[in-house]
Amino acid sequence: HVSLVGRSLLTLKDFTPPEIEQILWTAADLKTRIKERGEVYTPLEGKYAAIIFQKRSIRTRLSTETGVNMLGGKSYFLSPEDIHMGVNETIKDSAKVLSGFVNLILARMCKHEDVESLAAEGSVPVVNALSELYHPLQILADMQTLQEHFGGLKGLTVAWVGDSNNITHSYMMAAPKLGVNLRIASRKTLDTCQNVSKDAEHLAKQYGTQIVHTTDPREACKGANVIVADRRLKNYTGPEEEKLEKLKALQGYRVTHKFGEMAAKDWVFLHCGPRKQDEVDDAVFYSHRSLVWEEAENRKWTVMAVILCLLKCHACTTPKPDY
Ligand code: CP
Repeated sequence: HVSLVGRSLLTLKDFTPPEIEQILWTAADLKTRIKERGEVYTPLEGKYAAIIFQKRSIRTRLSTETGVNMLGGKSYFLSPEDIHMGVNETIKDSAKVLSGFVNLILARMCKHEDVESLAAEGSVPVVNALSELYHPLQILADMQTLQEHFGGLKGLTVAWVGDSNNITHSYMMAAPKLGVNLRIASRKTLDTCQNVSKDAEHLAKQYGTQIVHTTDPREACKGANVIVADRRLKNYTGPEEEKLEKLKALQGYRVTHKFGEMAAKDWVFLHCGPRKQDEVDDAVFYSHRSLVWEEAENRKWTVMAVILCLLKCHACTTPKPDY
């Protein structure tokens, strides 16, 4: 049994393959027992979670709130207007105060260093609910969705099409550890943060997987099992005209069935949402290739698994899926 009790989850870079598989297995276990078998399972009774968001959310917020409640715990949502953190009080002081009230903090912060400060200064586990650098919860949901669909992960090839961002970074930290190859097609191959790229190259070498950077979406999609798109220029704060110019440069990266025709016969499409028309057309987004609704639902089972694994020793009672 792999125990993660007391740990924080800020990036999957910090987690080994058996630890990531343990989270995914727990998510599958909870889904089978609660959703399929109707079991009432409340191991988080008496546990409290603070949910702090500096940015908008539907999936991450609701999956956490419903998931914690389903497991018998209680969650408290705090928007920037509700709390002092970072305004009247330092993150360090807020982290110490929150640690006296709750058993876990799940935080969506603009800066990754702020979520790191929460974890360093508080004394309870902290979960990164998206920073500008990583979005580990999304990748866990994507991997659960792909495992369910393909029956395993090893040897799959994922093609990322569009702007490289926090979700790309999280794919780069997790894919090699699960035996998944990654091809990243973005405007400039330098879109990707250089430190993350170096880590990813190292991981790919260590686990024997492929990581390819290209500006050509066709090259990325050729023979791929999975095509992934996401929102563009997520963290862009510059002038509107420049933003429009940059978006124009991404026009050739809109996912259509043309890319699918180059992919493997069994190709599927993922998008973490919220989705805009210029990232993928309706013909793909609403097609039988698209697993976006399963992916969204799996945000709940995976965040439940993360919180449960960080707070309690959980023994899965269903067989471990193949990864
Ligand atoms: N994918 C994702 O994190 O969605 P939300 O912004 O709705 O939480």
